[in-house]
Amino acid sequence: MPTENMGSDPGTVRGSDPNRRLGVLISGRGSNLQAIIDAIAAKRLNAELAVVISNRPDAAGLKRARDARVDTLVLDHTDKARFATREDYDRHLVRELNQRNVRLVCLAGFMRLLTNVFLDAYPNAIVNIHPSLLPSFPGTNAQYQAWEHGVKWTGATVHLVTAELDGGPIVMQEPVPVKDGDDVDTLAARILEREHYLYPLAIQLLLNGGWRIEGRRFLAI
Ligand code: GRF
Repeated sequence: MPTENMGSDPGTVRGSDPNRRLGVLISGRGSNLQAIIDAIAAKRLNAELAVVISNRPDAAGLKRARDARVDTLVLDHTDKARFATREDYDRHLVRELNQRNVRLVCLAGFMRLLTNVFLDAYPNAIVNIHPSLLPSFPGTNAQYQAWEHGVKWTGATVHLVTAELDGGPIVMQEPVPVKDGDDVDTLAARILEREHYLYPLAIQLLLNGGWRIEGRRFLAI
C-alpha cells in the first residue's frame, strides 16, 4: 500500500499542507544545519526552522542556530537522571518537537540511533543525510570506507529514516568523484560541499509533497 504520511497527520495531500516547520537535530559541527539556514535566508528553501536540538551541550552547531536567532534546546543524553533509557530520551524529544508543531525532522549529524518511540511518532517524516551513495558504506566513517575500498565514485544520500540503519527510502542522491590524489580529508570536503547543496533541495521536495513510498522506493505521485 503506497503511503505518504509526514508527521502526525497521515494520508493528507502534502502539497497543500501549510505547515513547513522543521526541527533540526545535531550533535556537532552543524555545517548542514548552516546550509539549511542559508537556503531559507536566500529563499531557496521555503521552510521555517522551529527548533535546533542537540544531544551535546558543546555542539558547535548550537552557535550557528543562535546566530541565526533560531530556538535551541540541549537534551544531554548522558543525563541519566533525566533519561534513564533511550526510549525516555526519545519520548522527550518527540514532546519537544510536537510542542513546536514540527512537521519534518531533519537529522544533521545527529549521532544517535532512534527508537521506535521516535520513529512511530514521525512516520516518513524524519530525514537524514549520509556521506556516501547508499546502500554502499552505511554507518560511521562512510568517507573513509569509500576511500579505502577504492571506489571511483561516492557521494551523498538523503533518505527517510526507518529502523534500518541508513536503510530508509532514498529521496535524492548526488555523486562525487574520488580522485587518485585524494586522502580521506580532501574526499570528505568534496562530499560535504555537495551535501550542502543536496540537503536543502531534498527537504524542499519533501515539504512540497507529491510523493509516495512504494516498498523501499521514493516516487513522484
Ligand atoms: C555529515 O557528513 C553528514 O552527512 C553526516 O554527519 C556529518 C555532519 O556534519 N550524517 P555537519 O555537523 O552537518 O557539519
